[in-house]
Amino acid sequence: MIGYIFVVLCGLAGSALAKGKVEREPKGKFSAPVLDVKSRQLVLEANQTLTIHCRGRWELSWAFPGGVARDQERMRLEDSRCGRQSQHYCSQLTLSSAQAQHTGSFRCRYSHRTLRQRAVYVYVTDRQRPFVEEQNNSPDVVYMKESQPLVFPCRVTNPDATVSLVKFPDQELTPDQRNIVWNSRQGFLIHSPTYFYIGLFSCKTSVNGTTHSLNYLTHRQVNKIMKVYLNSTSPVHSLQGESLAINCTVTAEWNSRVSISWDYPGQANRSAIVSRWIMASTFHMVFYSILSIPKLHRSDRGLYICRVTSGPVSRETNVSVTVYDRPFIRLKPRQGAEVEAHAGQKSYRLSPKLRAFPAPEVIWLKDGKVAAEECSRYHVDGNSLVIRDVAEEDAGKYTILVGIQEHRLYQNLTLSLVVNVSPGIGEKAVSVQDPGSVPRGSRQALHCTSHGVPPPHIAWLWHPCPPKDVPGGFSVSQEDEPREGGDLHLTCVANKHLYTNFSWQRVTDPAEATPPTPSLGGELDTPTHTHSDTPTHTVIHLHTQ
Ligand SMILES: *[C@@H]1O[C@H](CO)[C@@H](O)[C@H](O)[C@H]1NC(C)=O
Ligand SMILES: *[C@@H]1O[C@H](CO)[C@@H](O)[C@H](O)[C@H]1NC(C)=O
Ligand SMILES: *[C@@H]1O[C@H](CO)[C@@H](O)[C@H](O)[C@H]1NC(C)=O
Ligand SMILES: *[C@@H]1O[C@H](CO)[C@@H](O)[C@H](O)[C@H]1NC(C)=O
Ligand SMILES: *[C@@H]1O[C@H](CO)[C@@H](O)[C@H](O)[C@H]1NC(C)=O
Ligand SMILES: *[C@@H]1O[C@H](CO)[C@@H](O)[C@H](O)[C@H]1NC(C)=O
Ligand SMILES: *[C@@H]1O[C@H](CO)[C@@H](O)[C@H](O)[C@H]1NC(C)=O
Ligand SMILES: *[C@@H]1O[C@H](CO)[C@@H](O)[C@H](O)[C@H]1NC(C)=O
Repeated sequence: MIGYIFVVLCGLAGSALAKGKVEREPKGKFSAPVLDVKSRQLVLEANQTLTIHCRGRWELSWAFPGGVARDQERMRLEDSRCGRQSQHYCSQLTLSSAQAQHTGSFRCRYSHRTLRQRAVYVYVTDRQRPFVEEQNNSPDVVYMKESQPLVFPCRVTNPDATVSLVKFPDQELTPDQRNIVWNSRQGFLIHSPTYFYIGLFSCKTSVNGTTHSLNYLTHRQVNKIMKVYLNSTSPVHSLQGESLAINCTVTAEWNSRVSISWDYPGQANRSAIVSRWIMASTFHMVFYSILSIPKLHRSDRGLYICRVTSGPVSRETNVSVTVYDRPFIRLKPRQGAEVEAHAGQKSYRLSPKLRAFPAPEVIWLKDGKVAAEECSRYHVDGNSLVIRDVAEEDAGKYTILVGIQEHRLYQNLTLSLVVNVSPGIGEKAVSVQDPGSVPRGSRQALHCTSHGVPPPHIAWLWHPCPPKDVPGGFSVSQEDEPREGGDLHLTCVANKHLYTNFSWQRVTDPAEATPPTPSLGGELDTPTHTHSDTPTHTVIHLHTQ
């Protein structure tokens, strides 16, 4: 009520002012066009006719409420020259059978300077339709923006209407003219909206016992983009004529809105079709934008960028797309057709240079048989063949068969693998176990077995006999002084290269103790042992073979 009185006072003041101008202006200047309407607002009833005259110094134009603009056949404009010497421009607006939705501001202005204008606000009252806007069943979304008032735009057709604002389910908010303000031309304004204003709200009014309402869902704009990704992170390879689809997924804060756009090579030709999806989960929103090109051309290759913006925040991600003219296989050895490995190597990888599109099938053969089936140490890794614990028998011819069945493309390449083996001398390599003693001047054959790849060179070295392990080649020692009744331990030590088959013999006559004659050369001191106290002499006969 207070608001209404205020508006009326305002209207009167405006009309007085307008009137003053109309009278003054034939002599003075029409700085803005002049209306014949005496007040700043008019209240009509539905089905009445609205007529407004406007006059000015220059050509005139009108601006109407949105409801009129949508409904122009009821409206007529008549332009004419007017004034005593037709020096003025006049325009008459006639809106026949005005309707509630025509409620709003009618403005007359100069065509060339539209800010020079006069306005009258017209209410077209209709008891069936207290609100200017109509709503189907779903609430309208109103956006809350930071440091801006929140507006529930439930303007009315009757300036006297009593409207209340209700927060769902039934909390009525009373206008306080400070934070919550009712304005029949705008609706409810909330100057400093807080979190309290997030939710479902209604403007309600009753006419003759019937309640009318408009519902609003407030939406706080949030701009947090959490993740942006394409479903293909690695470069995309395709053939001409094939289709392409790239899916850009954006995860953003709950309640946020994002806009997703694509930059791509065929943009100028609009060669892509973009479709969008939104999903709200409990905690966030997921937006999908799928770019698809039904038939790729060469010109479609390049970088595809998915750009995402939400308010002032923006993110982007890209993927490169290669379009091949036709399928192909390019296969060649990395360095020559002969390759080398070493026996004992932990692993060896046979990997020729292979480029192909689409992805080919690869089979490795060893000496004509499927390698992986030949030996458990062979396995195919990507396009390579890996040999574990390389052994000599791995040497051979390896063939890689590359095929793209659907396009009937086949190629093969054979690599010869040489396995180098370090030379070794077999365990019983030298055939004579022990040369022992051989007759002087005789002929002896010595055999040495050795192996290596490539075949090793064998060199024989001759060493003189190892240094004598027994000084003098032969000795007898006794542990302690012989005593009568005691044990005497005698030890005989001889060089095995010169003596074999020793035996102890007891002799009574030292003269009998003839030293044996070794058949091989060598110094041999008389191997006697005598003891002064006993006539017993121990003579050792040595026989050598
Ligand atoms: C306006 O006229 C139409 C048809 O002539 C009628 O149905 C409607 O009830 C009228 N509205 C008012 C508010 O008189
Ligand atoms: C108001 O409602 C009453 C009964 O519901 C009806 O008799 C009366 O004509 C209505 N008034 C208007 C102006 O519609
Ligand atoms: C787009 O990709 C996401 C995962 O990256 C997947 O969940 C979603 O289903 C895809 N959308 C369509 C329409 O293929
Ligand atoms: C990406 O998503 C599109 C659309 O769902 C799909 O057609 C395409 O096969 C996907 N690409 C990959 C690499 O998953
Ligand atoms: C647009 O399409 C034409 C033919 O379809 C092609 O020759 C041209 O390269 C395309 N341009 C771009 C930018 O994709
Ligand atoms: C494409 O993305 C990569 C990494 O994701 C980035 O380094 C590169 O600058 C992007 N290129 C363009 C043209 O945006
Ligand atoms: C390898 O290719 C040659 C022709 O380049 C072909 O004659 C030969 O049959 C192929 N070998 C195999 C095993 O496919
Ligand atoms: C060792 O000598 C004894 C007796 O002198 C002889 O009977 C024997 O055959 C010899 N043994 C060898 C292996 O020469």
